[in-house]
Amino acid sequence: MQGLDPTKLPRHVAIIMDGNGRWARARNLPRTAGHKVGVERVREVVRAAQDFGIEYVTLYAFSSENWNRPKEEVSDLMGLLKLFIKRDLDELHSNNVRVRVIGCRSTVQSDIRALLDQAEERTRENTGPNLVIAFNYGSRDEIVRAARALAVDVAEGRLKPEDISEDALDGVLDTAGIPDPDLVIRTSGEQRLSNFLLWQAAYAEFVFATCLWPDFDRSQFRDALEEYARRDRRFGAVPAPDLAVGS
Ligand code: FPP
Repeated sequence: MQGLDPTKLPRHVAIIMDGNGRWARARNLPRTAGHKVGVERVREVVRAAQDFGIEYVTLYAFSSENWNRPKEEVSDLMGLLKLFIKRDLDELHSNNVRVRVIGCRSTVQSDIRALLDQAEERTRENTGPNLVIAFNYGSRDEIVRAARALAVDVAEGRLKPEDISEDALDGVLDTAGIPDPDLVIRTSGEQRLSNFLLWQAAYAEFVFATCLWPDFDRSQFRDALEEYARRDRRFGAVPAPDLAVGS
């Protein structure tokens, strides 16, 4: 495990890859140059996660709000995602990685939808680490779609309103079957969630790395995991020593 304590590793790490534009601007390069280097870091971090023994990595690749960016940047980001799936799917598959995609698929252009479907289909039986790509993803949109699915079940008599529970909602989210993230990392020094996994991150730990995403390498990732290992997770309860004192 290369020095990391396996008993203190997060099972699921979710990452907001922020700062590609600023990285490019600092070098007088077009924003796309930052996204391109960003994809290299995606590769590095996914490989590192496998080496470290992380079971689930979720990457916020494109948010439902990112459509508001200039047309050219949106098109470049689509191109990079397509290229990533075309070039890297073989390696991911041969490493037994299961790919899943979360986000609203129905409004995505058909060639990308086909690639995303293919990545999921091809790796469905894989039993190794899980790579979850959040694409055209917005947490509020996901929750609305889930609420709508439950409403349809109630309207059609498959579910009673009183049977709507946290588990029932969990089961119709895009992330159904994926454990909640233990650790959310955001790069670039920004400290917000930006509509990412709002429901699922209820008890996640947060690490805000100051470096920009194109500079977030294996060693920065390890630092974030070490920071996580130092955290005391309580899930709303009190720490064990305080319980002993109080009793
Ligand atoms: C945020 O930086 C980054 C994005 C909106 C896109 C992230 C996408 C990639 C790294 C490439 C595609 C992903 C995969 C999984 C292949 P920003 O542009 O908001 O940077 P800024 O805040 O400095 O402007």
